[in-house]
This record gives sequence, C-alpha cells and structure tokens, in this order.
Amino acid sequence: MTDPIGATKTIMEEKSVQTLCRVGDVPADEPLRVVLPDDHAVSVYLWEGSYFCTDDLCTHGEASLAEGYVEDGQIFCPFHMGSFCISTGEPRAAPCSEPIRAYEVIERDGMLLIER
Ligand code: FES
Repeated sequence: MTDPIGATKTIMEEKSVQTLCRVGDVPADEPLRVVLPDDHAVSVYLWEGSYFCTDDLCTHGEASLAEGYVEDGQIFCPFHMGSFCISTGEPRAAPCSEPIRAYEVIERDGMLLIER
C-alpha cells in the first residue's frame, strides 16, 4: 500500500519479557496485584488450574481489579461490580464497556512471565 502524502510512520513496538512472580505466589481464585519495574500494575489470576494476567486498573474508574474477585472466568471490579473476562480482557458486565489489556502468561522454571 502506498502513502500518497508520505505521512505514515512505521512504529516498531518492542516487547520484553517481564517476570510477574513465582508460580506458588498466586492464590487460587484470588487476584494478585503485581507492580512491574515501570510502575505498571497488573493482576495475576489462578483460575481452574491456569494462570491469567490483565492490567490492574479498571477502565470504568480508578479501581484496582486485584481488590475484586474472580468468578466464572471473570474479574469483578470492587467499585461498581462491572466485570471483564480474565482471558481476553473484554468487558462482560456493565458499567464496564472498554476492555482491559490481557496478557498471555508464560510459565518457566517455576516463574510466571508476560510479554509486554
Ligand atoms: S470502577 Fe470498575 S466498575 Fe466502576
């Protein structure tokens, strides 16, 4: 595809692997808040034997999702009980309408990692 006015820039997004925690640090069905080295907070979940990770900040307000609860594969926000799918980050229950970012969790040598 051509760019007739030459205004398109190619932005290369570099991802890096970041360590979340040890495998045993995440309680079953209870979110764990992890603050990454750049101060970005994520929530880590152990649900039905699998690990999931999303951004910690609710898109509806200033709530930490790690203070909510997990049920039926969803994280329920502690402020207004909106919810998100912990696998995809898609909103599932109002008042949440904007998705949160979800990360694939990599398990390696007893540690949990994400790419971001
Ligand atoms: S702040 Fe999360 S549902 Fe309102």
